Amino acid sequence: MRLKKSFYIKTFGCLQNRADSERVKAFYWNRSFSEVKDWKKADLVIINSCVVRESAENRVYGLIDNIKKFDKKIKIVLTGCLAGLERAKILADKVEILPIKEISYEIKPLREDRETALIPISFGCDNFCSYCIVPYARGREKSRKEAEILKEVDEAIENNFKKVILIGQNVNSYAKGGFAKLLAKVAKRRVEKISFVSSNPWDFSDKLIAVIAKHKNIDRLIHLPLQSGDDEILKKMNRKYSAKQYLALVKKIREKIPEVEFSTDILIGFPGEDKKAFANTIGLCKKIGFKLAYLNKYSPRAGTVSAKLYKDDVSTEEKKRRWKVLDKLINKKLS
Ligand code: 5AD
Ligand code: SF4
Repeated sequence: MRLKKSFYIKTFGCLQNRADSERVKAFYWNRSFSEVKDWKKADLVIINSCVVRESAENRVYGLIDNIKKFDKKIKIVLTGCLAGLERAKILADKVEILPIKEISYEIKPLREDRETALIPISFGCDNFCSYCIVPYARGREKSRKEAEILKEVDEAIENNFKKVILIGQNVNSYAKGGFAKLLAKVAKRRVEKISFVSSNPWDFSDKLIAVIAKHKNIDRLIHLPLQSGDDEILKKMNRKYSAKQYLALVKKIREKIPEVEFSTDILIGFPGEDKKAFANTIGLCKKIGFKLAYLNKYSPRAGTVSAKLYKDDVSTEEKKRRWKVLDKLINKKLS
């Protein structure tokens, strides 16, 4: 007879979800569940979902259907970004919903990586970029208390972690301008490398630049989502900068920290992105010389402003073509 119940956890999406899963895992381990690596052998399947792109959301529905087809008795707990949306309600007879807000940060995470500790510092987002569903799924931005974060960093150091990644949808707006201070405090500790994701251009203060310049253990690869290099598109995206301002920020950071490199996110084929707008993105990317870019093809997300206001007017083929152009230019350095 098997006494111990088993769980399997599937994590979709970003680092925030990975960090949340480490806590969900700890929650079930603490309740004497054992973890299995094959969902077919589990009594309970936890799905930590992502909805940022249509393809990610569809993979969640696909997995739920597969599990239910295989064995109706397997219990499914749905958490992550889909759990925060109204439309998750249609899954009510198939899954139990665990809202992300109920994942307690008091629980000590069961970390997956032995070297790098993921440390959430804030949750949610107030930016409302017009294409993005995250503010609806995760709610308004809330910052975790500094003392709590530092305690988690110290515990990670005691447990021999060499690197930390501070994470949040918008880390540099932490505690209304308190990010530079927090980062400096973390950097003074015995950590080999500190990274942070994601930050946005409009909250990248001079104070933050000074802190990075001063502390050599802060990662010299900075992730700074660009999304587009065309001013009209940026405006429609509700991003709060122009191409010129983005470039000026990059120049300013490079002046203070000459060895810095940049990675970015680019959204390809946003409504109205014509050849000229795309050429502006290419032009800006060439000027900046990103080390790496995460390239996302636009898909309208029900509930967002851009899905409501604008027609998805760039064809799939054209999005693919533009994806290849940018991939070659930035990620393969072949131009
Ligand atoms: N379609 C495609 N990509 C998107 N992203 C956000 N919303 C969408 C969407 N509707 C991308 C952005 C963001 C990354 C996390 O996901 O580029 O930076
Ligand atoms: Fe989405 Fe923009 Fe918030 Fe990032 S900053 S999570 S792209 S709304």
